[in-house]
Amino acid sequence: MKTLKVNLPGREYQIDIGLNILDKQLPEAVKLNTAEQVVVVTNTTVHELYPDFISNVLANSGVKVSTCILPDGEKYKNLETLSLIFDFLMNISANRQTLLIAFGGGVIGDMAGFAASTFVRGIPFIQVPTTLLADVDSSVGGKTAVNHPAGKNTIGSFKQPEYVCIELAFLKTLPSRELKAGYMELLKHGLIQDAEFFNFTQQNTLEPLNFDYLKEAIFRSCEIKGRVVEQDETEKGLRANLNFGHTLGHLIETHAGYGKYLHGEAVGTGMLFAAFVSWRWNELEQNEWELISNSLTQIMLPVKLLKLDYETFRNLILHDKKAQKQAVNFILLKNLGESFILKETSVEKLWDEFKLFAQKFPEIISLE
Ligand code: NAD
Ligand code: GLY
Repeated sequence: MKTLKVNLPGREYQIDIGLNILDKQLPEAVKLNTAEQVVVVTNTTVHELYPDFISNVLANSGVKVSTCILPDGEKYKNLETLSLIFDFLMNISANRQTLLIAFGGGVIGDMAGFAASTFVRGIPFIQVPTTLLADVDSSVGGKTAVNHPAGKNTIGSFKQPEYVCIELAFLKTLPSRELKAGYMELLKHGLIQDAEFFNFTQQNTLEPLNFDYLKEAIFRSCEIKGRVVEQDETEKGLRANLNFGHTLGHLIETHAGYGKYLHGEAVGTGMLFAAFVSWRWNELEQNEWELISNSLTQIMLPVKLLKLDYETFRNLILHDKKAQKQAVNFILLKNLGESFILKETSVEKLWDEFKLFAQKFPEIISLE
């Protein structure tokens, strides 16, 4: 097992990563929390694959456990589904001594975290991620959210978990498409902060699963994210670098309809675009651009976008139907392993680059 700490004053927490660690680690973490009762928040798919898994692990902990099962999918990551968690909590007379456990991928983590941050003005929560994306990114750092029809993750809060238990065994049932999508966020951490880590990923393959490699890669990914979050928890500046690839990524998810493309797929396309712009604007050397594009395109799936014109592009990027603004903060790469925020980047210039990008990569992105 590998262990990492996120050191935020008063809100520090431990992340454990390993194979077959949950049975021992989770009951200990729950005991430390001295909760009166535990509510596991999960979805139908995870519940079918792992029925009563967390309740069984906590069977001898002396704490009452109940399970709130939500519908599965990004399209349910909204206020309506969130209110199902509140209904559940009210029905079982939950209070500030109730501990939530998010048991699922990033959608469950983001929604359970948001519920934990707002129910009776805040109750503790633990993350038990079950997807690669949640292992390497969403379970760490305390961003919680639901989507609005006009903008991805636009309603949310910052709420750090009490503990994160990354049980690698759950990855055995994760479909290949989901694994690849999650891998994009892991590669993102190398691209923006750590060339050596990125090279390490290039010397290994994602599939077939190799748990020694995954343990190390997930650890390093969480370490990069954790160190950024320690310096800028609420995204006053530095943390925005973690949004590398997300400008176009969020646009793709919102424009295509939530759930059509996986978050990691959309972000992967966005990362390729951001690297392309970095190269075109003479920030990134040709050889590094080639290395990055070869690596990303190997595991990317095509994205098809319908009827995308400049107006739609701009309004989606700015989350505003009547946007007056014409600029956005955009994350670029200076080098492989070093990103920076280009403030007030012209959306019109990004649109010009986007059209060139779509021409250069018709197998990755097509406009109809
Ligand atoms: P997801 O939660 O929708 O999970 C993907 C699919 O895998 C779902 O169908 C789920 O039911 C299924 N699944 C989960 N665990 C499984 C397992 N072990 N075996 C088989 N199937 C399993 O998607 P995701 O990719 O985990 O997360 C994406 C979400 O995370 C997006 O909403 C994104 O906005 C959010 N996110 C948040 C942060 C953050 O910092 N909070 C960071 C990155 C992404
Ligand atoms: N995924 C971006 C962040 O956590 O800040």
